[in-house]
Amino acid sequence: MNILVLGSGAREHAILTALAGPSITLHCAPGNAGTAAVATNHPLDLESPAAAIDLARQLNTDLTVVGPELPLSVGVVDRFQEADLPIVGPTAAAARLETSKAWAKEFMARHRVPTARFVVADTEADALTAARSESLGWPLVVKADGLAAGKGVVLASDPGEADATIRDMMSLGRFGAAGARVVLEECLTGPEVSFFVLTDGERTMAIGTAQDHKRVFDDDRGPNTGGMGAFSPSPLIDEAMAARVTAEIVRPVIDGMRAEGHPYRGFLYCGLMLTARGPKVIEFNARLGDPETQVLLPLGEPLLPLLQGVAAGSLPSRDAIRSERKRVGVVVASGGYPGEFASGKRIAGLDDAAALPDVRVFHAGTKFSNRDVVSAGGRVLTVVGEGTTFRDAMARAYAGVDAIRFDGAFARSDIGTKALE
Ligand code: AMP
Ligand code: GLY
Repeated sequence: MNILVLGSGAREHAILTALAGPSITLHCAPGNAGTAAVATNHPLDLESPAAAIDLARQLNTDLTVVGPELPLSVGVVDRFQEADLPIVGPTAAAARLETSKAWAKEFMARHRVPTARFVVADTEADALTAARSESLGWPLVVKADGLAAGKGVVLASDPGEADATIRDMMSLGRFGAAGARVVLEECLTGPEVSFFVLTDGERTMAIGTAQDHKRVFDDDRGPNTGGMGAFSPSPLIDEAMAARVTAEIVRPVIDGMRAEGHPYRGFLYCGLMLTARGPKVIEFNARLGDPETQVLLPLGEPLLPLLQGVAAGSLPSRDAIRSERKRVGVVVASGGYPGEFASGKRIAGLDDAAALPDVRVFHAGTKFSNRDVVSAGGRVLTVVGEGTTFRDAMARAYAGVDAIRFDGAFARSDIGTKALE
């Protein structure tokens, strides 16, 4: 059986690792130096659904799994479905839950999904008027509508900052077309958790929870990044809370998508804030998270039959998959990230780290240079430690991090401490 995973990060490396098995041939496009150890890498422009179809046909692929949002946003799933090729992921219309924050908010309002109060503004004048009306309070959350790599959200503390942010997004084009529309939101408070669901458009399965660490430095200081680490499961989501999230958020979303004519199939990442008035949606992602996937997988049962069920519209009806194992994943990044950083640094200690008990090393920005593995991106690796307690998982993850060396490498030293509290 031939399986193709689209993407090139540690998330995709973790997905491939969870899919590996006897009589399964894995392919990755475009992949990295880590995915090359479990799969065959193939060059691919992720913005081209036609190129992905050509590759899937050429490889006789039985199933394609989409990692990142970019191919979803350009309709790779639509094209595969038209060509009758099995694929896991939502269509472009369904992926609007992630690709348009305005669309997602209006959808949630139509289906009474709990989320922050909001105003969508299509013009700068409307946005400025709404911000000055003070109806959403301060600080005011200003979000660019489209994909902005997690950087399109600003918490404006007063009207002056709100005005400047709106101008920056809408007339100065700081996020390009993504900022042509903005969403203004009331600011919610509470801990943030990620809740992961697998769905075939009708049946849903809660597959786990995680908490991530977005800021670059310890104690959540410094600029936002794609994610410097994560742990799973979230101790804040017990059985009762999971049932509540499923009933109040997941069910109305999946039923609403189907009722509106664009059923949602694939992974759904619900970014939630646990407020004093219950769980509320901060954002949806139409895919698994990175680095959350590296601590979410493997699930308590084999992934492949579940993904085949999603692609075929026959996901087994089962409620949740619970894993008793605790995992902590620490991102090792290039010095300077998320700003300017150097690449091409030779990475030592990968085998030593991977040989440690209950440690896994997933590659993100890596590539081969002759026979060496060298850095090739901001986030270079995710080192995951597993154990029966978070304390053990953390100790193992950091033992792995300590074994790895490259020029300028750095990691946060406090990933997982929130789970100990
Ligand atoms: P998003 O890209 O929508 O997930 O937003 C990025 C981050 O901004 C979130 O992880 C939250 O920390 C914060 N954020 C977004 N929306 C809100 C909100 N309505 N209230 C408070 N914080 C928010
Ligand atoms: N770690 C957040 C994301 O994957 O969007």
